[in-house]
Amino acid sequence: MVELVMPKNSRVQKGRHHPAPDGAKTVKTFKVYRYDPEGTENPRWDTYDVDVDACGPMVLDVLIHIKNTMDPGLAFRRSCREGVCGSCAMNIGGRNTLACTHGWSEVPGKDVQVSPLPSMPVLKDLIPDLTQFYAQYASIEPWLHTETPEPQKEWLQSPEDREKLDGLYECILCACCTTSCPSYWWNADKYLGPATLLQSYRWLIDSRDEATGERLDALEDPFKLYRCHTIMNCAQVCPKGLNPAKAIAEVKKMLVDRVV
Ligand code: SF4
Ligand code: SF4
Ligand code: FES
Repeated sequence: MVELVMPKNSRVQKGRHHPAPDGAKTVKTFKVYRYDPEGTENPRWDTYDVDVDACGPMVLDVLIHIKNTMDPGLAFRRSCREGVCGSCAMNIGGRNTLACTHGWSEVPGKDVQVSPLPSMPVLKDLIPDLTQFYAQYASIEPWLHTETPEPQKEWLQSPEDREKLDGLYECILCACCTTSCPSYWWNADKYLGPATLLQSYRWLIDSRDEATGERLDALEDPFKLYRCHTIMNCAQVCPKGLNPAKAIAEVKKMLVDRVV
């Protein structure tokens, strides 16, 4: 049997411990992944004993508190703080989610473990490199393709056609789904992954778009679309309650329907 051993410098080591300030009454321990690509050290797990009476209820509140009062070097992304921009996506307690809408008290277990989205290269600490994810999104040309001359005012759509975009347009491109998908972990360079495929369907189903045939041609490939094996991790983790697996199934159905 082949024994797989990780290279020495990729093993995550025990890191530094940051104690709670004197007088803290309610203390919760956060175990946070740290990695500095410019340094020579291995990645490590730092632990922070946080005075949770001094910060808000969400994991992002705690990370901001840690950065402001305990460890200014901690790096993570955030912007809106209300589940709209998708930038604070990370793995919390073993689950991909948004740090700004996930309460630390919701995380099962004694300590709260926080690490970057899995399967992506790490730029620093909790910041994944999403270059490939965005390139894949760009590859589906996520804008309206039309041949009809532009209307004077706007492209009209019936209420029924507009409703078909529900469950799709709400995607904030946080990458929680894509980075939780085992098929994507193994074939990230060829499989488009659930977020990009959900977005593909969003344009395929748009009554105003006139490039359905070309869009389907581009997806008819053994890897780009058909690597989805309906494992459903994507639908389980989406913080917006969307179902990328269902959208992928709809795209597959469109491909079958145009053949028969
Ligand atoms: S249903 Fe498809 S896209 Fe979603 S996690 Fe499973 S394999 Fe990935
Ligand atoms: S489908 Fe959900 S999990 Fe996936 S990128 Fe969009 S919002 Fe994030
Ligand atoms: S900070 Fe924008 S989604 Fe969390």
